[in-house]
Amino acid sequence: MKRLVLGIETSCDETSVAVVSNGREILSNVIASQIDIHKRFGGVVPEIASRQHLEMITPIIKEALAKAGVSLQDIQAIAVTKGPGLVGSLLIGLSAGKALAWSLDIPLLGVHHMAGHIYANFLIEEDRPYLEPYEDMQEKTLCLVVSGGHTDLVYLEGPGRFKVLGQTRDDAAGEAFDKVARVLKLPYPGGPAIDKLAQEGNPEAIRFPRSYLEKGSYDFSFSGLKTAVSLFMQKEFSKGEYALADVAASFQEAVAEVLVEKTRQAAEERGIKRILLAGGVAANSALRRKMTELGEKEGYHVHYPSLKLCTDNAAMIAGMGYYQWQQGLIDDLDLDAVAQLPLEDLSILPGK
Ligand code: KG4
Ligand code: ZN
Repeated sequence: MKRLVLGIETSCDETSVAVVSNGREILSNVIASQIDIHKRFGGVVPEIASRQHLEMITPIIKEALAKAGVSLQDIQAIAVTKGPGLVGSLLIGLSAGKALAWSLDIPLLGVHHMAGHIYANFLIEEDRPYLEPYEDMQEKTLCLVVSGGHTDLVYLEGPGRFKVLGQTRDDAAGEAFDKVARVLKLPYPGGPAIDKLAQEGNPEAIRFPRSYLEKGSYDFSFSGLKTAVSLFMQKEFSKGEYALADVAASFQEAVAEVLVEKTRQAAEERGIKRILLAGGVAANSALRRKMTELGEKEGYHVHYPSLKLCTDNAAMIAGMGYYQWQQGLIDDLDLDAVAQLPLEDLSILPGK
């Protein structure tokens, strides 16, 4: 039997709606990006984002249903991002989700955005190896969750049970990419722009500092690196010895190296053999390559979603929502949007 969940994601600057069957099979995953609108401001403008979500949400819901070849009456539950994110943006998706759940008289499932990012690894993607169903997860798993707002090293003790081993003490990895891109005068969002330019540069050209913090800590820090790139651009770059692509590649290398090394240490110390990547920065080519190399060299099973499922999308929300529904975790219609939401708050599932 196909149980269809409609997922809604509006936490930042993407309006996305998806239809997912049995938590695994993506029937549609429509993503309307606002990048072109925010680009000229150099970053997301919250008021514009929520207004844009409001305009887009109904047509995108219709498009997702049409692409999946189903009607609203076929949908059995609504999953929607409840946080963390921009409250004004979250509220648009949440209100639409509540209205649908109420009018169709079906369950409402409020999903933690970062839990959704992690779940993206368990969706089925054509032409890619896929993992076991989320609810059957047996293997001890470590997930590096890297996005615009988060850098979390998460131990998945089981499905829906998260232990955050380390997080950033200052900038998130994606935030560092976005800020450094601004210093390099690259367009927003900075991550993809740096990644693209870095393809033409030498990652060993400049040895930017790597911050490993004190021994035994799984926390991260990227603000020193950001400052180092900034100073380099002010003092050294004008001498004309390096290309901008070398700066981009060397910065990207420094970020990826620290992320991979900290993940390796945590995996080794805890005897964890499976490593997942999640969140927008998991789309980064250097990070994907270095993590894959680590896996091949030291015998870790490394997995990450396709580029489309790394950045914000509603299929991951529908998938995680499906799991919550199976566990009987249905939300009331007074569910609220929350800007800050610790991942461990979700660890309320059976077995805990
Ligand atoms: O997960 P996401 O789409 O939204 C949040 O939940 O934050 O992540 C967006 C972040 C941005 O900071 C963007 O610059 C970064 O992910 N990003 C990348 C790449 N693609 C997106 N960073 C590095 N390399 C990329 N290829
Ligand atoms: Zn995200």
